[in-house]
Amino acid sequence: MSFIDSVYSDRRNHLAQAVGSGVILFMGSAEAPMNYPDNWYPFRQDSSFLYYWGHSIPGLAALLDADEGRHTLFADDPTVDDIIWSGAQPGAEALAAQAGATGVQPSAALADALRRLAASGRKVHFEPPYRRDTQARLEALLHLRTGSAGLHASGALVRAVIGQRSVKEAREVAEIEAALAVSYDMHVAAMRLARPGRYEREIAGHVEGIAIAGGGRLAFPCIFSRRGEILHNHTYNNRLASGDLVVHDSGASSPMQYASDITRTIPVSGRFSSRQRSIYECVLRAQLAAIDVMKPGVPFRDAHLIAARSIASDLKGLGLMRGDTDEAVAAGAHALFFPHGIGHMMGLDVHDLEGLGEDLVGYDDAVQRAGQFGLAYLRLGKALAPGYVITVEPGCYFVGALMDQWRAERRHEAFIDYDALDAWRDFGGVRIEDDVLVTAEGARVLGRPIPKTVSEVESACAS
Ligand code: GLY
Ligand code: MN
Ligand code: MN
Repeated sequence: MSFIDSVYSDRRNHLAQAVGSGVILFMGSAEAPMNYPDNWYPFRQDSSFLYYWGHSIPGLAALLDADEGRHTLFADDPTVDDIIWSGAQPGAEALAAQAGATGVQPSAALADALRRLAASGRKVHFEPPYRRDTQARLEALLHLRTGSAGLHASGALVRAVIGQRSVKEAREVAEIEAALAVSYDMHVAAMRLARPGRYEREIAGHVEGIAIAGGGRLAFPCIFSRRGEILHNHTYNNRLASGDLVVHDSGASSPMQYASDITRTIPVSGRFSSRQRSIYECVLRAQLAAIDVMKPGVPFRDAHLIAARSIASDLKGLGLMRGDTDEAVAAGAHALFFPHGIGHMMGLDVHDLEGLGEDLVGYDDAVQRAGQFGLAYLRLGKALAPGYVITVEPGCYFVGALMDQWRAERRHEAFIDYDALDAWRDFGGVRIEDDVLVTAEGARVLGRPIPKTVSEVESACAS
């Protein structure tokens, strides 16, 4: 599935102009073996290749000559063997036409084409490879030694791709909302199914089935755990019991492989206890406060800090924190409970564009990454711009090992009541995550609203 042809050539023309001169090399992904050569992980095309060429087929590559306006796809016609094992495939000419290429050559011609470019002194731009097999293919094509320090990705290309792909076109927002329609079903089903006696894996399996039935698949491994304080827990072996809270962080990819990334926290008994409700509402207030300040020009770090202050203030109300809220957050004391960043770019990649370098995507000269525990994990701090799609996902967790370490170090004891914390040790965690589009005036939560208030979640659990 792809957009109409001219979308890709228009995007490439824009990119060529932004890069200025030279030849841009696009490396599509190859099949990746799981445990022996013919047993592959599900194929996932490189997101820039998808964005600029539209094809989700292994082993492709392309060259875009920014000076001469030539767009060449390197692809092969399927062999009879390919058709026997994998069914009918479009031929190379058809793939080139669909992508709006001006020419097509067999894959084997790419090495020669690159040799000629090198001989004529032309600059060849490529993105930094994030997969070892792509790195090895690049090294072979560029006649570099394996693990070579000579593999220099192009800063100009990286900046241009980040600039272009960060600002979502309306058709991309529609794809993200298609992924979110599937996420809606995944999350509402999980609220209905999370019941005492069930194993986490039963519900995680059901959620993954909904993603596949929706025409895509999971955008990342599902998190479904009663141990919600383990931020990225990918095991599902626990049995749910009344009184548990489950953090469910999952997303579908759309048929065109755009992501969604949603977290909801579910009371297994169907009703939040008063303690669970107090932490849930603390996180919800933080999320709404962060979304409320999002608009073009506002550094996303401000949204993170507003959420942090909201959480710290509510935890003061519960007797877990103390002292001046602003001072506590400036010192980083809230990070005992909220130790991660509030969100990240999302698009074709669930953490969009991070393969190009997290700091290059999330920071710039005006906003640089902090070193402080907690804030240092904020993946995106820079000023927002219209068209950005960003997750907003504050959380509040009770991590025993972290509590013990800080208490032993007497860290931030002016702001944290460690004695009061003892009674919360087994609480687990709460996270709430939505996907938000920055608009000209503000921000809009994308997709059909997924139950989020206490009463909405409890109603969905009872449905
Ligand atoms: N699901 C991973 C994340 O929220 O970043
Ligand atoms: Mn998530
Ligand atoms: Mn996320």
